[in-house]
Amino acid sequence: MNDAERARRPLRPQRQHLETLAAQAAGYVEPLTGAIVPSIQPATTFVRGRDYQAPSPTDYIRTRNPSGAPAEELLARLEGGAEAFLFSSGMAAVNAVVMALRPGDHIVLQKSLYYGVRNWILSFAQDWGLSVTLVESDDEAAFQAALQPGTTKLVWIETPSNPLWNLVDIAGLAALAREAGARLAVDNTVATPLLTQPLALGADIVMHSATKYLNGHSDVLAGALVTARKDSFWARIQSYRQQAGPVLGSFEAWLLLRGMRTLPLRVSRQCETAAFLAARFNGHPALDDVLYPGLPEHPGHAIARRQMKGGFGAMLSLLIRKGETAAIKVAESCRLFLPATSLGGVESLIEHRATVEGPESPVPRHLLRLSIGLEHAEDLAADLEEALHAAA
Ligand SMILES: Cc1ncc(COP(=O)(O)O)c(C=O)c1O
Repeated sequence: MNDAERARRPLRPQRQHLETLAAQAAGYVEPLTGAIVPSIQPATTFVRGRDYQAPSPTDYIRTRNPSGAPAEELLARLEGGAEAFLFSSGMAAVNAVVMALRPGDHIVLQKSLYYGVRNWILSFAQDWGLSVTLVESDDEAAFQAALQPGTTKLVWIETPSNPLWNLVDIAGLAALAREAGARLAVDNTVATPLLTQPLALGADIVMHSATKYLNGHSDVLAGALVTARKDSFWARIQSYRQQAGPVLGSFEAWLLLRGMRTLPLRVSRQCETAAFLAARFNGHPALDDVLYPGLPEHPGHAIARRQMKGGFGAMLSLLIRKGETAAIKVAESCRLFLPATSLGGVESLIEHRATVEGPESPVPRHLLRLSIGLEHAEDLAADLEEALHAAA
């Protein structure tokens, strides 16, 4: 196989399963060496060629980091999008979308979602001259009423959403947004493309905190956007990334690709364990409720059954009957579940969201958020049982 043939491998057009795409990093082979793992390219600048032509694909790392290309290619394929861009964090990716709007534009924003996104859009929107309408996730009529045809340019949702794991019907909302001339952006961090592919359901942009499941090992801060099509809005996002510079570093991009290669395996096991724990603790006398979209009584269950394939996610929340102090005691008493924020890693985490989010948080004060990792399900169940007992 010569260099040119090797270079063609990533471009193979045939349809492959997501597991195959991930394991093979979308067919990546380094054109120059035949290496099946990309090199880490730390250079920030690249020499020009004959006639002072800019080298391809980049002359400077802020314009485009070639070390990010394999992970971008893989993510675009997993999400079924036209192109993906990596960013230095999930929040930088969110910001890139908001910065692509113009003063006077209107955003419809789901009320209950990751608080960092809500707070950032609300605070930034005012300074940037944008208006925002907040809408409850399960209220399609409210979404419809909030849309201002011609003025609403962005609808932003997260599904399942932090920390109640509410579901939004992506296909239904995409149709409403399109009718109003707005773009639908979906934070797909929690579902991952393994469980939900928003672009296939009509969304325009998918966002990830790649810090979470995509990387999966709690050692990279990264964000990503994937677009359904390369249009003028996407060009504005690209221009913002190039000029403002929230690009991902080379080592982080390398680690991210490494993590993504096992994404399907991790997500599948994590979902299985989460479903097991949700069923095991549902109805537990120390709990008021277990919030998990896989449980038939969860308000988003019907949408989740339609929209999520292969699992209901690996995030769940527990409402501790005895209240906030007992909830904090449960988090402190766990030995396997680590009392830390974030999600999507191989190690299970437990957190008291109201403490993390601060006094303004709308999250119930007796809620504990659980991110399920790759430990044995029975060990996790025993850990939780003991912690619930200790706080009883
Ligand atoms: C659902 C969701 N979206 C966005 C973000 C922000 O991503 P990052 O922390 O990578 O900036 C987070 C972080 O917790 C998140 O959980």
